[in-house]
Amino acid sequence: MNILCIGDISGRPGRQTVGALLPQIKREEKVDFVIANCENAAGGYGVTRAVLDELIGYGVDYFTSGDHVWKVREFVEEMHDSNLPILRPYNYEGQEQLPGRGWAVVDMGSRRLAIVNLLGQVFMHEPVRSPFWMIDRILEELAEAGIKENDPVIIDIHAEATAEKISLAYYVKDRVSGVFGTHTHVPTADQRIIGRAAYVTDAGMVGPLDASLWAGFDAVINNFKFPFKQGKVMEMGGRRVFNSVLITVENGRATAIKRVDRTLQE
Ligand SMILES: [Fe+2]
Ligand SMILES: [Fe+2]
Repeated sequence: MNILCIGDISGRPGRQTVGALLPQIKREEKVDFVIANCENAAGGYGVTRAVLDELIGYGVDYFTSGDHVWKVREFVEEMHDSNLPILRPYNYEGQEQLPGRGWAVVDMGSRRLAIVNLLGQVFMHEPVRSPFWMIDRILEELAEAGIKENDPVIIDIHAEATAEKISLAYYVKDRVSGVFGTHTHVPTADQRIIGRAAYVTDAGMVGPLDASLWAGFDAVINNFKFPFKQGKVMEMGGRRVFNSVLITVENGRATAIKRVDRTLQE
């Protein structure tokens, strides 16, 4: 099974880039399932049902998210709909009382695929519990939900610190099929197989390449130079980037991981 894991899709430039490139990538790479992080898909902050529908139309099967998923207030209510193919990070304090889910099991004919979404603690400002302790609990819950050793389990660890992400991957390397990082919007070249799992520290992003996260540099550089801040503005021009990793899983064990990265000229 070939699972494409796409980094943070950012705003309209990101959605347009997914629409322009994903159908062809799916054919060329024989992709069976597409997971994409959508925390920035609506104007850079959060996501809406219309945006999810648009991206599903381009071929995304399931969405993970992160700290920004709560930004569109109406969508927080929509997350009560368990039919929406989206996860929010599992490991919030009080997660039992939050809308949405932190893991899901997807039926794919004869196979089942488990997807997990976690937040890091290092240099993040979210009230979350340790992803290390929480993943032990999640894997117990997945076993109770019927996930077997030969079913693929893929984790999106949405976190800032490389050390936290890679340490989490080594912690679960014999218990899951893949761990991909998101949140920094910067792709890393450290993809590898460890134990049973494929790993990359950060998948990267989809959206404006000549940008900071997704924002134009005028405001960002101003904000680094001066104490008076400017609001960030989505970079709509320039080159677009598509960052992802393709993970191949057989009987729950990763056999390959490679980067699938593209750049679109203006
Ligand atoms: Fe992001
Ligand atoms: Fe994030």
